[in-house]
Parts: sequence; C-alpha cells; structure tokens
Amino acid sequence: MGLVYPLPSPKMAKSAKEINLENCLGKTVLVIGGGGREHAIVDALSRSPQVSKIYCAPGNAGIGLQAFNVPLKDTDVEGLLAFAQENEVDLTVVGPEASLAAGIVDTFRAAGLPIFGHTQAATAIESSKEFAKKLMEKYGIPTAAYRSFSDYEEALSYVSGRPFPAVLKYDGLAAGKGVVIAQNLDEARKALADMLLDHSFGEGRVVVEDFLIGPEFSFLCFVDGERVYPMPLSQDHKRAFDGDKGPNTGGMGAYTGLPFITGEDKEFAYKEILCKAAKAMVAEGLPLSGVLYGGLMKTPQGIKVIEFNARFGDPETEVVLPLLESDIFDIFDGVAKGLPVKQPVWADGVTLGVVLASKGYPGSYEKGYDIEGLETVDAQVYHMGTSIRDGHVFTNGGRVLMVVSGGKDLADARKKVYQEIEKISCENLFYRKDIAHWAFE
Ligand code: AMP
Ligand code: GLY
Repeated sequence: MGLVYPLPSPKMAKSAKEINLENCLGKTVLVIGGGGREHAIVDALSRSPQVSKIYCAPGNAGIGLQAFNVPLKDTDVEGLLAFAQENEVDLTVVGPEASLAAGIVDTFRAAGLPIFGHTQAATAIESSKEFAKKLMEKYGIPTAAYRSFSDYEEALSYVSGRPFPAVLKYDGLAAGKGVVIAQNLDEARKALADMLLDHSFGEGRVVVEDFLIGPEFSFLCFVDGERVYPMPLSQDHKRAFDGDKGPNTGGMGAYTGLPFITGEDKEFAYKEILCKAAKAMVAEGLPLSGVLYGGLMKTPQGIKVIEFNARFGDPETEVVLPLLESDIFDIFDGVAKGLPVKQPVWADGVTLGVVLASKGYPGSYEKGYDIEGLETVDAQVYHMGTSIRDGHVFTNGGRVLMVVSGGKDLADARKKVYQEIEKISCENLFYRKDIAHWAFE
C-alpha cells in the first residue's frame, strides 16, 4: 500500500497552538475550488512567508495535505462569505469560473472583503462568446471573422455561403461541449438544430466563425484594470490519446517554453491582445481584477484569439505557477485591492506536466483504485481527483494526478517527468506519452 505524498508540509505539521500564534502575524487565505489548478495555487501560496494559514473550499485530498479543506461548494457564495467572515480570512482567491459567474466577487466586495477574481459582469468575457467577439471587433483585437444568430434558418443560410470547416459556438456555458467544428453542411445543420431548435444547452445564441489553422497556446496574465502582468506561455493537450487522437478532455498535460512562439510573437500578443482587452474592459466599465487567459492561435496571418477565459487555466496553472519566484500573495493581494504590484519574476528553465487519468476518462470510469509509489516521486505531484483513507491514496475522479517537473530545457523536463511517473503504480490509470510533442517535431 502506498504512503501519502507529498508529505504534510512543515506548516501543517505545526501544532494548533503554533498555527494560532502565527495567525496573529501572518495572513489567512481562502482558495475557492478543488482541482489540480487550485492545488497549484495553494502550493504557490504555501511558499509565501506572509501566509500562515490556507483554507480551500472544497479542496481535495491532496490539497488537504497543504491546507485546511472546507466542505463548501464553490458556488455557495453566501456560505463562503459567512466562512470567510467567521474565520478572519484576509484574502480570497477564486479558481473556477462558476464561482465568478455566481457573483462571488461582487458579494465579497459588497461585504468589504478583499477577493482576487473578476466581477460577475466582467466574467462575460468568458461566459458569453458573443460578448467576447463584439468586444474584439469594437477594439480591433485580432480574431476569426464571425456572425451570431438566434434564428436557425438564418444561421444555416449564412453557413451555407461560407467555406468549410465552419466553427459553431453556443453562446453560454456548455460544459466544454458548446463548440462544433462542422466539416460539411450536413454536420452544420445537425449542430445548429441541436443548439437553436432543440436548445440542448439552453436558450443562447450561436456564434458562427471562420476556421483558423495553426498551433494553439495559452497566455495567462494577472490583470488589474489596465495593469497587465504576463505569465510564461504554455500549451495544453486537449485530446485523450497520443498523437492528439481520441475525445476532448479537460487537458492531459501542459508545458512551458514553447519553441514555436518567438519573443516578438509574445510581445505582439501582450500588447495587441491582452493589454488591449484589459483596456477595452475598462472602457466598457467592466474592469478586470483577476486572471485573463488568452486562448490564442499562431495562424499564417498572425496571432489571433480563439477564446478568452476569465480564470487560471487547468492544467496550464500547474506548469506556470511553479516557475514564479515572486511572492504570489503580493500579486493576489495587490490585484484584489487595485494596487500596483512589482513585476512578477519567473525562473529560467521550463516545466512539463503529465496528467494521470482513470481508464475510460473522459467517458465513464471507475473510482477507488489504490495508487502506490507516490512517496518516492521526485517531482511536483498535484492532486486532481484523489481520496485518502488511512494514509493511502486512491483514485477518485476522471483526472487523478498531474506530475510536473522542471528542467533546463523541454527534453530534460520531459525525461524527468516520465522517469518519475514510472514510480507510480495503479492498475486503473493511463497517461499520454507524448506531452510537448509539438516542441520536438
Ligand atoms: P473554445 O471553447 O472557443 O476554446 O473552442 C474549443 C476548441 O475548438 C479550441 O481550443 C480550438 O481547438 C477549436 N476552435 C475554436 N475556434 C476555432 C476556430 N475559429 N478555428 C479553429 N479551431 C477553433
Ligand atoms: N486548459 C483549458 C482551460 O482551462 O480552459
């Protein structure tokens, strides 16, 4: 049977008395969410010398080794507010978009509590595709040409006159299933009927946009109004199997240090996309105050926006935050309070992370398999879906663990990660063997 890894951090190993004593001096932070992304946020916060106590709601079994899990749902805004008030939380950091869309930031601010994350209205940059496309059009931010429709016949007639493949996006939250790349008119007809006649996802409109070609990458920035602090670029792997085959997932791995994006590309994306979007949101009266995530594509016509997200990406966060050398508490706190922060400092080198998922994921899968060998792994292990009973770790979700290693270059990081994964044994886990393959082709 495997032992628990990572071992409880020194902070958790301290007695309650010591923690209370520290509490008088240090900051108490509440992190909202319970996946690998939040584990990486908690881990970064635990490196801050200013932070003495971390709560995470709902957290997960691995997070519970570094923070105190709080059994509240990430959308239970009133419950979370009462918890933060009763437990003298100095700062709250929001992971999931669902919490932002539920208005957690508006509620905490109205109660005078500092919180890192966007208001419900500003979260529209992610939750409404049409809002994001209109914003980009109005402010000259490069993206695919589009039209939006609520009427099935009109949408179909527009698509018929456009080249294929065509991209159809439901305008609203659709649990990652709202985007269809239609290869021909028949597929487009089916998808439009599903979205606009059967209302499978709800009453929302549909955005129809041109199909772009090129490598995709993620550009996450901390944003406070017009102040935009860039993070290292990263790339997610959405398909379940090697060679980018199989169904779409929540992400099977990620890495930093993208060789196909030049310094000039990053500068362009920073100025012409991320900074412009932040300015545009201020001009619209919806200033951002959290993470803006540009889902970008390097097309032959230049870098364009595929989508914006209003939060940290998962699994990107797990490879980006380990590179942060600055104190993350200062960044979260400054952005939450609308105060300038020092430009974050990032380590040289790169990171690469591989997700271990339950066999069958993203379809149906079984839970409760014993995971052994974690205590011998010499790499960062973020928990995504585990449970711990009597000191043993078990699978408890679709994506279960993410193993992340740094390296001087990608070949080095990749070798280390796969070497360390070999030490983990579990009969019901699978993982991709080709993370960062684009960098090696
Ligand atoms: P989204 O939810 O908007 O990020 O779309 C999901 C995925 O669909 C993206 O990660 C892309 O791989 C693909 N996609 C979305 N829009 C386009 C587009 N205009 N051209 C090509 N692929 C796209
Ligand atoms: N990595 C994709 C996302 O966080 O939306």
